[in-house]
Amino acid sequence: MRLIIHENYDDASRWAAFYIADKINAYRKINSKPFVLGLPTGSSPVGIYRELIKMHRAGQLSFAHVHSYNMDEYVGLPASHPQSYHYFMAENLFSHVDIDPAHAHVLDGMTKDPVKECQNYEDAIAREGGIELFLGGMGSDGHIAFNEPGSSLQSRTRVKTLTEETKIANARFFEGDPEKVPATALTVGVGTVMDAREVMIIVNGKNKARALQAVVEEGLNHTWTLSCLQMHSRAIIVCDEDAAEDLRVKTVRYFKDIEKDTIKTYRERVKNGA
Ligand code: GLP
Repeated sequence: MRLIIHENYDDASRWAAFYIADKINAYRKINSKPFVLGLPTGSSPVGIYRELIKMHRAGQLSFAHVHSYNMDEYVGLPASHPQSYHYFMAENLFSHVDIDPAHAHVLDGMTKDPVKECQNYEDAIAREGGIELFLGGMGSDGHIAFNEPGSSLQSRTRVKTLTEETKIANARFFEGDPEKVPATALTVGVGTVMDAREVMIIVNGKNKARALQAVVEEGLNHTWTLSCLQMHSRAIIVCDEDAAEDLRVKTVRYFKDIEKDTIKTYRERVKNGA
């Protein structure tokens, strides 16, 4: 696992956006088939989306050949609901770039047959040949997508019940009331994320520090489902200093040392306005 620690959230987001754009552009040069991108919601990826939109507007990045699959969606919220993940994606990315709406997939939280909806999602991803790059965030309890503590590390797309901690964390989007947060969601499984050829997770803020410490320094454990990344051959966590706060000094020094050229190259790129 790579851990790339940036001074602040803006740098972490810009670096991650450069990384994604470079992957999409490089892939396009040698592949005629679409680039399949997994996408998250939440506050963590907003900075990345902002940067991707900027690059698109500057003519440096096109989503015309990108097929996207979002991680999750609340059960019972229509796409028109401002807190649905359909709505979030339209607001924060899709309506600002040239992705074909038919190729921007989000699980249907209003489906009458959740089991079928989830199976269809897995089948659609398989038909695409799998996900090239899965971008994600992390919950304060170390969850990935809506794979709450105790989720099988081999789980597939399914319905999950949200924990009290997640409802409290997400209450900020529901007038501060955890009771207004839907009780269940459709979510890709840990296994679905692990099948992606590459996974990149953005983590920021002090409230994620304990979970990041567990994911990076402790063992593989279903209590912190993002620890699954320890078993992925191409996983990157990009974080800010605040999120790295609970890591051992030795761990931080180690990762900063092995990634020092990454940070140097990034700074030069920003300086040169590339
Ligand atoms: C929800 C989403 C996750 C997201 C997490 C953290 O639980 N299902 O995909 O990573 O929230 O959200 P935030 O980035 O707002 O902290």
